[in-house]
Amino acid sequence: MFRIMAAKKVNLANLPTSLHPLPKVSSWLEGPEIWVKRDDLTGCALSGNKVRKLEYVIYDAIKKKSDVLITCGGIQSNHARATAVAAAKVGLKCHLVLSGQLEDVPDGNTFLDFLFGAKVTFLEGANLSEMDQAMEDVAQTYIKEGKKPYVIPLGASSPLGALGYIGAATEITMQAGELREKFDYVVVPCGSAGTLAGLAIGFSYLNPQTEIWGISVSFKENWIREKVTSLAQETKEQFLPELATPITNFRVLDNYIGEGYGETTPEQLKMIQQIASLEGLVLDPVYTGKAFWGLKEEIRKGTLKKGQKVLFVHTGGIFGLFANHYRKMLARNIFDLKIQNYIHLDKND
Ligand SMILES: Cc1ncc(COP(=O)(O)O)c(C=O)c1O
Repeated sequence: MFRIMAAKKVNLANLPTSLHPLPKVSSWLEGPEIWVKRDDLTGCALSGNKVRKLEYVIYDAIKKKSDVLITCGGIQSNHARATAVAAAKVGLKCHLVLSGQLEDVPDGNTFLDFLFGAKVTFLEGANLSEMDQAMEDVAQTYIKEGKKPYVIPLGASSPLGALGYIGAATEITMQAGELREKFDYVVVPCGSAGTLAGLAIGFSYLNPQTEIWGISVSFKENWIREKVTSLAQETKEQFLPELATPITNFRVLDNYIGEGYGETTPEQLKMIQQIASLEGLVLDPVYTGKAFWGLKEEIRKGTLKKGQKVLFVHTGGIFGLFANHYRKMLARNIFDLKIQNYIHLDKND
């Protein structure tokens, strides 16, 4: 196993998360055998993949005696909400910079940001560098007040964050070994690329025959490749001297971004409903639903075939489904809202 140097973590996650087959989805898609790694169940109020990353990042913040965590994301950012939960759990303050504007009362993840006591700065239409600048400005304000802020980059996709998914790669390898299973592919939604990087680093060392696929929900392939390559190099320098770089065991699919980050389609929403009703498994429209759509399309095109085994990493994101925008789209376009089984109860019953 890995010799990870000098990296400690706080315990926030319920590990190991379960790993199991999806027989009904597999036979529906008539392709490879599909399994799921339930990282939506890492805990910390269903915070998904972010919990594994934050375990290392927050240890570092506490070690540096920080008292406020600052991070950023889109208005429905799961990472921002996960940071708010984790901060509350370990007793730190949290300040979020979110790109977007509150239209009405907060909903979905934004609702939870407030519930967990985070302060929020909204920046309408902000891009990545504007959010970075805003986090620096917020940090300066805290410093002037005598506080010690700790800035977490977008998605906690730093070498510390990647360690969380090197841990997940180790966990998957052990679980697969116990089950005597071998996966040809591990498929994961890809945003800021730390999850993909951690898995690819871990598998490049433990099981290089397995190819790791990152299905992008926002960034183009070049950006993601560069990010994974630099994260692998920095992780090697800081924590894993024996890692052979550059790593090559991963593939980036950027052809399922569609209209952009957070944009979905009626076909994808229909698939989310189909999977929920087949397996009791909830995917979200922004990350896991889009990535699963990519997986489904690759099966349809014949890239992934019968006889192969695919592990889909469920990275969480359930609260995004409860943002008004998606709730309304599902209710209006997908659900059959006619009341089908209306039972009249006789007063005498
Ligand atoms: C539910 C969910 N899945 C996947 C991702 C992507 O992870 P990463 O940013 O490490 O690529 C995110 C990131 O915010 C997420 O919230």
